[in-house]
Amino acid sequence: MMQGMQTNRNELLIRDVELLFRPFRHRKLSLVSRIVMAPMSRYFSPDGIPGAEMARYYRRRAERQVGLIITESATVDEASASADSCMPQFHGGAALRAWKQICRLVHATDCKIAPQLCHVGMARPRSGDIPHPGAPPIGPSGIDPLSLEKTGEAMSREKITEVCDAFASAARDAVRLGFDAVEIQGAHGFLIDQFFWKETNKRTDIYGGDLVGRTRFACEVVQSVRKAVGSSFPIIFRFSQWKIGHYGARLVNSPGELAEFLRPLCEAGVDVFDCSVRRHGEPAFTGNPLSLAGWTRLLSGKPVISVGSVGLSKPLSAEQPAIEAAPTVGLEQLLRQMSAGEFDLISVGRALLADAAWAEKIRYGREEEIIPFSERSVSRLY
Ligand SMILES: Cc1cc2nc3c(=O)[nH]c(=O)nc-3n(C[C@H](O)[C@H](O)[C@H](O)COP(=O)(O)O)c2cc1C
Repeated sequence: MMQGMQTNRNELLIRDVELLFRPFRHRKLSLVSRIVMAPMSRYFSPDGIPGAEMARYYRRRAERQVGLIITESATVDEASASADSCMPQFHGGAALRAWKQICRLVHATDCKIAPQLCHVGMARPRSGDIPHPGAPPIGPSGIDPLSLEKTGEAMSREKITEVCDAFASAARDAVRLGFDAVEIQGAHGFLIDQFFWKETNKRTDIYGGDLVGRTRFACEVVQSVRKAVGSSFPIIFRFSQWKIGHYGARLVNSPGELAEFLRPLCEAGVDVFDCSVRRHGEPAFTGNPLSLAGWTRLLSGKPVISVGSVGLSKPLSAEQPAIEAAPTVGLEQLLRQMSAGEFDLISVGRALLADAAWAEKIRYGREEEIIPFSERSVSRLY
């Protein structure tokens, strides 16, 4: 009797887990599973060029039930775009040849791949091992996103156009190299997010002011990318309330404000929103259990990706850095949200970093074999 009950429960769980492995179909993007590898900067690309080991690292996840890989942040071609000379770049012959090889290896499986295109803005250090050491950090108002002090100059209109062109050029290369989509990094306190956030955007021209004014730069980036890639190529846009060093920060405080924020981005040409939160189950606003991804899907009508602490037992606390060891646990809440249609896709970061076969082990009931996340998961590239 007890054994029978156990079997039923296991069968139920196995059937529910299949929710994560249903194909995703959108007119611009079809995926074999709902699991996305979250973008994770690894700093294993000397001189901005991802090596052969990087290609094998992505391939290991691609061949084990991941539907879409969103690569680590890769910088666009503007002198101040990077924070570290081991951060990959998405421009220049050698780097683009390396990205082509990554794309080719991933495409030998059923998995799709999108580069995350990024400009770090004022998050660029002033010294250290950075490309173009003479180039100062740039941002909407020259405000450092960590200290919130003015340490640089505001971007000119010409610089804004130059950065938009750099995103467009990288996206054009992504199409040419055979990538399946691009993701624009608009989250976590980097350049585009510095325009969104009122603490780092004090401009009084058309790129500042109210929430809609502060989305203008992002919209121009998206429009430039759209023009470069054509109407049928998917553009994914990542945004977050939280910023590195300011985990409690908020761009919007209500569903109404979120709708106001999303509308211009939709009009500019975003196809999929990647809603970055630190715990996928956390409610976006008080008084309603719906997550940021859930609200974004409801208000924009676009497919959404959620993320945050999947497969980790100890969800991150408000002020805890992302790199933190935590063992794995069950997925009940995630499956409930998935079956309620709260989001279309789920990104998995640290759990997939620790164990390239994480998705496969989840699917086939081999949870006890999962390698838990630890410091080692970050320090080596496997
Ligand atoms: C080592 C590491 C590097 C990261 N780098 C990026 C990045 O380049 N771009 C980005 O948008 N998010 C980045 N993130 C955030 C992840 O994409 C993800 O949102 C976060 O880790 C939460 O997901 P998880 O709980 O499944 O790890 C990074 C996270 C980690 C742990």
